[in-house]
Amino acid sequence: MSTTTANAPTTPNASSLPMPVLGLGTFRLKGQTVIDAVKSGLSLGYRHIDTAQIYGNEAEVGQAIAESGAPRAELFVTTKIWTEQLAGDRLIPSLRESLAKLRLEAVDLTLIHWPSPGGTVPLKETLDALREAKRLGLTRAIGLSNFTVAQMREAIELVGVAELATNQVEIHPFLQNRQVVDFAKAQGLTLTAYMPLAYGKVMTEPVLIDIATRHDTTPAQVALAWLLQQGFTVIPSSTKPSNQAANLTAKALRLSDEDMARIAALDRGERLANPDFAPAWD
Ligand SMILES: NC(=O)c1ccc[n+]([C@@H]2O[C@H](COP(=O)([O-])OP(=O)(O)OC[C@H]3O[C@@H](n4cnc5c(N)ncnc54)[C@H](OP(=O)(O)O)[C@@H]3O)[C@@H](O)[C@H]2O)c1
Repeated sequence: MSTTTANAPTTPNASSLPMPVLGLGTFRLKGQTVIDAVKSGLSLGYRHIDTAQIYGNEAEVGQAIAESGAPRAELFVTTKIWTEQLAGDRLIPSLRESLAKLRLEAVDLTLIHWPSPGGTVPLKETLDALREAKRLGLTRAIGLSNFTVAQMREAIELVGVAELATNQVEIHPFLQNRQVVDFAKAQGLTLTAYMPLAYGKVMTEPVLIDIATRHDTTPAQVALAWLLQQGFTVIPSSTKPSNQAANLTAKALRLSDEDMARIAALDRGERLANPDFAPAWD
């Protein structure tokens, strides 16, 4: 990561920050709801916003960022390329459309949202296009999402692990995704845990409630702290400023080894994001 000095070239519209470990998700949020959620998150101190082409909210996310007054250089903005745009001749035009909607010259991170369904588009073709987008200054970093162990291995073989900022995958207490986690850790590939609250299901889990009570906090914060303590980035979403603020405090919560072990025992392979074009999961 380069440091900016008075005479050094600057990248005016891309952050020089590493990916903040706690970001704000925006899946399902549309229209004024997402504008309000992103503005509220930014005012509370979130500096990492996660969107995607398929969420249909990039324009509203861009509006919220612009209206928030948050300095661009402090923000880390991720978008994801939808499966129909993975071909070599489509990816960059689609990313340019995303940038126009987001009102940004560059995003900080561009992910392949899902591996090409059925392997229709060769991974090399998509990764080459992403690297070209990076070379053109349209994205500062590139990465993966919903990649299995075999697919991560292929990506690493093609471009090297240092080129891949993350694999964003579903991880929460009920789907601990251990094969993906173990492989990524062994390779030194950062994982981003999506649906870290199991879309709200963590709130009613008795073990999480018990641990939260002991720490005078909530199951949501316990679930996030459990992920952060394992070295994952987390991107919970919330439309409520009080929940957004509470989720931010998870960074300060320290769980004991016993707490961690009790949560590890909650794994039940419960996958929430499983569309019919999903890869053959590990
Ligand atoms: N790469 C992918 O394929 C993929 C797939 C899915 C998701 N994602 C990303 O991951 C992000 C997070 O996943 P998600 O939004 O599906 O689910 P999530 O973050 O696990 O859960 C969001 C739900 O939890 C509630 N919530 C949030 N904080 C809370 C708190 N402190 N107390 C109680 N309830 C709380 C929210 O309700 P309120 O609004 O009422 O607070 C909302 O209903 C997405 O927004 C998206 O950016 C990526």
